Amino acid sequence: MAETINPWTSTPGEDIERLFEEFGIEPIGPPSRDLPELPYFISRGIVVGQRDYGRIASAIRDKTPFHVLTGFMPSGHPHLGHLMVMKEVVWHVQNGGSGYIAIADREAHAVRGISWEDCASYGKEYLRCLYALGFSGKTYSQSRNRRLHDLAFEASTKVNWSEMVAIYGFSAETDLAHQIAVITQVADILYPQIDSGPAPTLVPVGIDQDPHLRLTRGIAHKLRMFTVEERDGYVSVRSKEAPPEALSAVHRAFSGSRKYSGHVDIRGLPYGVVSEKVREIERSFGGFGFYSPSSTYHRFIPGLTGGKMSSSVPESIIGFSESDAAIKKKVMSALTGGKPTLAEQKESGGEADTCPVFLLNLFHMVTDDAELSDIRWRCVSGEIMCGQCKKETAERVLAFIRDFKERMDEVEHLVEERDGSDI
Ligand code: TRP
Ligand code: SF4
Repeated sequence: MAETINPWTSTPGEDIERLFEEFGIEPIGPPSRDLPELPYFISRGIVVGQRDYGRIASAIRDKTPFHVLTGFMPSGHPHLGHLMVMKEVVWHVQNGGSGYIAIADREAHAVRGISWEDCASYGKEYLRCLYALGFSGKTYSQSRNRRLHDLAFEASTKVNWSEMVAIYGFSAETDLAHQIAVITQVADILYPQIDSGPAPTLVPVGIDQDPHLRLTRGIAHKLRMFTVEERDGYVSVRSKEAPPEALSAVHRAFSGSRKYSGHVDIRGLPYGVVSEKVREIERSFGGFGFYSPSSTYHRFIPGLTGGKMSSSVPESIIGFSESDAAIKKKVMSALTGGKPTLAEQKESGGEADTCPVFLLNLFHMVTDDAELSDIRWRCVSGEIMCGQCKKETAERVLAFIRDFKERMDEVEHLVEERDGSDI
């Protein structure tokens, strides 16, 4: 049976390349070459996979509009495991994207049983983190965004039960709330395009969220009035559900085009020009004109105890409101890539590349590449032992968290100001 990635139970990360291949996720390398500047999360191999990222990279390079959206389930306090996706959003906003954050309170309430009060207070913590990192843009809670509900309803007309079974492995016992959570997330992903108009939209996520991307890409396509396809020497515009007048409008927009029943063929124009014009016509006839969303996939920062960073294993995470003493203790007792004996480690060095302590530095604690490679070198050459290395890392983590907390306090008002809005 084909494997499914289930967003609620799977703990992926072991064999990310195999999953990429199976689900058609492409490596980030080729499209990222269009970026004027490579962010550290790509150059350090943290963000590794993508779908249609080329569109986003060209939008950054050409300074054309694009959106960036992600969502957070407010089912607990934010911690270091959430930071990567936040930084990806902020970087893309700083590079020209219009930013959107969904607080997935409906999902947290329906799937995890979190009370609405807790959803609201956890949600605010996530937003404080984002603003502390420099986010600007729009934010909303799923439960309060009326246009989102309408979009979810519209999207639901394009999915049937067999797709839910195939993508998520749902069974006859699956409650309706799971399906509502899924279709609400589909609406999240398309929301920036109904809020600010069609444009390429980047959704940075962990691989566990890819099922939602696959589903949304299918729905975005089904919600289009037209399919625009490159053929041998011409571009074909096919009506799916377009009113007949809209197809005539396409015909009229391109002189020399030929109209058949259900499609118009256009010669002598590049695909991009035709598809943009068709999108405009679709919009003028009340259609959505969606771009299919793009996505990036990052590796997960390992928990301090080895597995994933997860609130359900308190020793695995570093939270933003933990005391210095608690943080220090966690880092000092973390699992490492060290050898069983000091003699062995001196002789053959540690395994930095899989060591949770090293990866903490690589993901978030050391911004300078030369410093990071020095830390790695001291480990693999057996120059430094784990005790000392953890001590140095703990100092970095404490400095980082202190500074981050301060910044979170400074941006508190931004979260409160937003609270008055109806989305
Ligand atoms: N389901 C996501 C999670 O479990 C949260 C989420 C909700 C989301 N809406 C989204 C993620 C839209 C990306 C895009 O964390
Ligand atoms: Fe990890 Fe540091 Fe030990 Fe190397 S020396 S294995 S990086 S803790």
